[in-house]
Amino acid sequence: MNTSSVTAIAHPNIAFIKYWGNRDNILRLPMNGSISMNLDGLCTRTTVSFQPSLPFDELIINGREVTGAGLDRVSYILDIIRGMANIHDRAEVITENNFPSGAGIASSASAFAALAVAGSKAAGLNLSEPELSRLARRGSGSASRSIPGGFVEWQVGTTDEDSFAFSIAPADHWKLVDCVAIVSASHKKTGSTEGHSIAPTSPLQAARVADAPRRLEICRKAILEKDFDAFASIVELDSDMMHSVMMTSTPALHYWKPASLDVMNSVRMWRTNESIPACYTVDAGANVHVITLESEAHIVEKRLREIKSVEDVLVAHAGGPATIVKNSD
Ligand code: PMV
Repeated sequence: MNTSSVTAIAHPNIAFIKYWGNRDNILRLPMNGSISMNLDGLCTRTTVSFQPSLPFDELIINGREVTGAGLDRVSYILDIIRGMANIHDRAEVITENNFPSGAGIASSASAFAALAVAGSKAAGLNLSEPELSRLARRGSGSASRSIPGGFVEWQVGTTDEDSFAFSIAPADHWKLVDCVAIVSASHKKTGSTEGHSIAPTSPLQAARVADAPRRLEICRKAILEKDFDAFASIVELDSDMMHSVMMTSTPALHYWKPASLDVMNSVRMWRTNESIPACYTVDAGANVHVITLESEAHIVEKRLREIKSVEDVLVAHAGGPATIVKNSD
């Protein structure tokens, strides 16, 4: 068996056209395609080594041993890797995030992307980018988009085989910046795995999904042509549509806080009244991602910090693909 200790890094991503709801919850096959941008500077660094002496898989996140559901989710991916590589050893997984958990940046995307890259290589596999994206997808759907670099589309696909993500433009194609307005550092009550499973209970989900190819097309074109106005309108519409589904599902999910609305309204006003290129998008939490151009990022960050209910602002540029940083055979 040709196994080793491998370290990989991966960036989280922010979705411009959101993934919400699965047509297969086990395989995490999405109801609609999605588009995102990787976030440079923020990253998960994960080292995996398969060891014959270990009785169980071990998971250490930011220096603390994790058991229970968190470990089960990692072992699920390791089991897939073991099956592909035909090995039986348990693994030690040591992972660190350089961004605070609970800061409103989902760590599951970068975590499962880094795990897929480090774990498969440590098991002696040489997977292609689409294969890595499919593997990461099994841990967290959005993780499929943290495998390729820059601006990324996850095609909806028809089966497990063709539901993977690919880069539509490299990170340096368009100098977009994500200013994340932190309005609440508390952990979300309902995680996305549960959220996806109840999405079909909203009568609005079918309409959101049916209209997704149109939104994807507009967003893809706006990115390729660097058309900020077209980009801003479709990104805000898509975020609002996802939150409409969340608010109207059973049970209802209300992620926005009054402070989130303060930020969203301010961003709209800056764009409409002062032609500042900025738009908002919100994931399954209260914090608001404000997307702007690099040339305007300092003013947007400054203005966000002036809003009373904004506790902090994180700034991230477009980031690269998940990569191996150390391989000790
Ligand atoms: O990958 P998950 O299961 O954490 O789902 C991500 C869901 C959203 O962040 C709300 C949207 C998206 O496309 O990233």
